[in-house]
Amino acid sequence: MKEHRGNWGSNIGFILAAVGSAVGLGNIWGFPYKMGASGGGIFLLIYLILAALVGVTVLLGELSLGRKYQMGPVGAYRQLCRKFTFLGYFSVFSGFLIMSFYSVLGGIVLKYVVGFAGAIFNPQDADIMTMSSGDYFGTFVCAGPSMYVFFAIFMAASVIIVSGGVAGGIERFTKIAMPALAVLLIAVIVYVATLDGAADGYRFMFGIHTDAIRELGIWSITKTAAGQMFFSLSLAMGIMLTYGSYLPKETKLVKNSVIIATADTIVAVMAGMAVMPAVFAFGLEPGGGPGLLFVTLHSVFADGMGGEIGALMGFIFYGLVFIAAITSSISILEGSVTFVMDIRREKGMKMNRGRFTVIIGALVLLFAIPVAFDGLGSGVGGGAIMKTPAELFGIENVKVWCDCWLDFYDVITEGILMPLGAFGMCIVIGWIVGIDSIKTEIEATPGVKMNSAKWFDICFKVIAPAVLIIVLIAQITSFFG
Ligand code: PFF
Repeated sequence: MKEHRGNWGSNIGFILAAVGSAVGLGNIWGFPYKMGASGGGIFLLIYLILAALVGVTVLLGELSLGRKYQMGPVGAYRQLCRKFTFLGYFSVFSGFLIMSFYSVLGGIVLKYVVGFAGAIFNPQDADIMTMSSGDYFGTFVCAGPSMYVFFAIFMAASVIIVSGGVAGGIERFTKIAMPALAVLLIAVIVYVATLDGAADGYRFMFGIHTDAIRELGIWSITKTAAGQMFFSLSLAMGIMLTYGSYLPKETKLVKNSVIIATADTIVAVMAGMAVMPAVFAFGLEPGGGPGLLFVTLHSVFADGMGGEIGALMGFIFYGLVFIAAITSSISILEGSVTFVMDIRREKGMKMNRGRFTVIIGALVLLFAIPVAFDGLGSGVGGGAIMKTPAELFGIENVKVWCDCWLDFYDVITEGILMPLGAFGMCIVIGWIVGIDSIKTEIEATPGVKMNSAKWFDICFKVIAPAVLIIVLIAQITSFFG
């Protein structure tokens, strides 16, 4: 007798977990800057079109395959079309590698939460308030062991949640965490709106910047939007497929896919309304990536606002970023855990979720060592403990793919395997097994008729693969360019 895999407790619980996966660091440090720097309103428009045409399609494909075969990506592809089982391995491997840097970033966020919390009552004595933003960040990321400790705590928290199971751990946590995130985000948006000069931030995000459009060109803006959309929706890592595998037949798959994509996009825009007005109000330069999150925004709270209120707002802001990061990290961890449990279940063994979650967590601790010890690219030359890939391989004119271990892991996953994996899925569904393979699953929900089958057929066959090729080209040029 095979052990029961378990299910989500409710549809809303599933949606909160899936939105929790989608809403992450990408929404906070990626979307607002990319939108502002890539033409503002026009970027949003292109992003929305891509999310509707491609995001929803790939999401629907993943949820349907997961629910149909009630297994993670490897098992699902094996049953769908044996020759393409490798696509399942692509996604499990990508998820594991992404976890090995995403959770290191989560650890840094935790450090800022703790730092600002400690500064609320005596800001004048706290390093986080008195040190310059660049120094605070630089010292911490090169600190090796103490950075590793924060990462390990972040990872341990993810392990504890995931070992509780899909309904008892992930769903229980996200049902509290996601509403909390929404409340904190709204609090920051409202506070930031009262700052002098906030309007420049809104203008940066939402204005139609014709000069930027002329300079960058629509093609380049589309590439940026496509890559962002893809990462933001947690696609091609088998996460949505895995989450779908715990869905009961009553859930409406098309509707859920639309809700998840919409909610993720709304939160991304809201994140922009929390971040950019504050950056502009204090006369700082907008930017993207870790620099925006850990240096520019740190300076907003520590120098711009300053004092008790700066510490408190910093605590609230990094608290919400922490929630966004951990609800994403648990989804990635669940992908690997489900992979192992599916194998054991197939063999009639006890699934042992708790034990294997801990083992996978420990493997992540191991794989993340280079990421946590190279000072995020500072390398031995910059005072960190470990060499960057560029230092190790003796590469001189540093290219993005080898400037730090994080980017090295990222180029393998986000750069290559993920766009290829999603492309493969569209080809398999669109051309090889046919749209009926998921249509029957979508219509397995009582009372559901998939009127949009023709439309999705075109999306799987043509539109999504074309955009995914664009994503692949964009990623490769940005890493090796
Ligand atoms: N979607 C998350 C973000 O925007 O930060 C990142 C992410 C989480 C990517 C989970 C992939 C994933 F499986």
